[in-house]
Amino acid sequence: MKVLVIGGGAREHALIWKLKQSPEVTKIFCAPGNPGIASLAECVDIPVKELAKLVRFALDSAIDLTVVGPEDPLVAGIVDLFQRNDLRIFGPTARAAQLEGSKTYSKELMLRHNIPTATARTFRDYDVAMQYLRTAQAPIVVKADGLAAGKGVSVCKTIEEAREVTRKMMRDEMHGKSGTTVVFEEFLEGEEISILAITDGHTIVPFEPAQDHKSIFDGNKGPNTGGMGTYSPLPQIEASILEEAERECVFQAIHAMNRDGVPFSGCLFAGLMITEDGPKVIEYNVRFGDPEAETMLRRLKSDLFPLLWHTTAGTLDQCSIEWDPRPVVTVILASGGYPGKPNPPTQIKGADADFGPDVVVFHAGTKLVDGKLMTAGGRVLAVSAIGDDLEAARVKAYAAADKIDFAGKQMRRDIGARGLTATRIE
Ligand code: AMP
Ligand code: GLY
Repeated sequence: MKVLVIGGGAREHALIWKLKQSPEVTKIFCAPGNPGIASLAECVDIPVKELAKLVRFALDSAIDLTVVGPEDPLVAGIVDLFQRNDLRIFGPTARAAQLEGSKTYSKELMLRHNIPTATARTFRDYDVAMQYLRTAQAPIVVKADGLAAGKGVSVCKTIEEAREVTRKMMRDEMHGKSGTTVVFEEFLEGEEISILAITDGHTIVPFEPAQDHKSIFDGNKGPNTGGMGTYSPLPQIEASILEEAERECVFQAIHAMNRDGVPFSGCLFAGLMITEDGPKVIEYNVRFGDPEAETMLRRLKSDLFPLLWHTTAGTLDQCSIEWDPRPVVTVILASGGYPGKPNPPTQIKGADADFGPDVVVFHAGTKLVDGKLMTAGGRVLAVSAIGDDLEAARVKAYAAADKIDFAGKQMRRDIGARGLTATRIE
């Protein structure tokens, strides 16, 4: 089988790393890919937003299955386009991708179908938004309605801060048109977890949970990023809470989409807060998480290819899924400046060292210039390690991450630390 993976980050590197192990996969292409991916797949120089070129390539190359990594092409309708051309593709249609593409759409779906979530108000008018903030209570969360690469959210400790962020989003258009509509949301307190689930719209296969670390600095300080590291499993989450979260927040969403006549197929990513009142949805994404995928695909024992294939065929009920019980920790190495404007490209040293079989280094923002590996963007590498226990996985991941160097390198030191110290939530 010939597979095309769309995207060029560490998530796509992890998908390809896993697909490469499938006896059913004979050839993998990646558009546009990156230098790490190039060692496993043939990279094709087509940007993810060039949908017409991507479909042409898939037709010309007789691709059997296309897998979409990032959200932008999904929201732009890549699945609809491929399906119109009788091409098999893993991911939701543009209508279903609104679950991530518009926070207002997903909020309304949750409210209509009684899915637990933070209360929220949407504003399109700047003056009305400012008026609302006069009577609002802090802390309050301010979100850009549209896509903003995981950076369109500010948790504001004071109303003054919320006013400032709102002004930047609505007046200064710091996130472009994505932020001219804002959502003010109730602040949820608790343990934040990510549950991914593969579904063909009928059968739902939830993954074990992972925990991301969104803020740039240790101890969840500083501005939000796309994610600075993940680990799984989560010893602090009791099985009954997890079942409730899957039932109320994941299965309900798939059923809700069906009832609304917008069936969802692909990978649903539920970002949840486990509050004192139970699990609540922070957001849905319509694709594998990054860096959740890096951790979960290393724990996945089953062959990934049949899971993706049967999803597109509507026969996911024929599949089963098995996890390696051993913990995985993934640490992101980011450029200086991130999550603001990343530093200009600088040379990376030590990324191709042999760290042993338990460590895999996935490439995110890297490029080759005159044979030298350079940084190219905010998140640069994802260093992923498996261990007999969480501490062992952490030690291995950080030993490798410390040996990789580039000017301005940022990484959090506390990935997985909560799993070691947190008390179990029952
Ligand atoms: P989002 O892009 O909606 O996932 O938001 C990014 C991050 O902001 C989340 O992963 C949370 O850490 C935080 N966040 C978003 N909404 C809330 C909320 N209502 N309460 C507390 N934290 C939130
Ligand atoms: N790790 C969060 C995301 O993929 O959006």
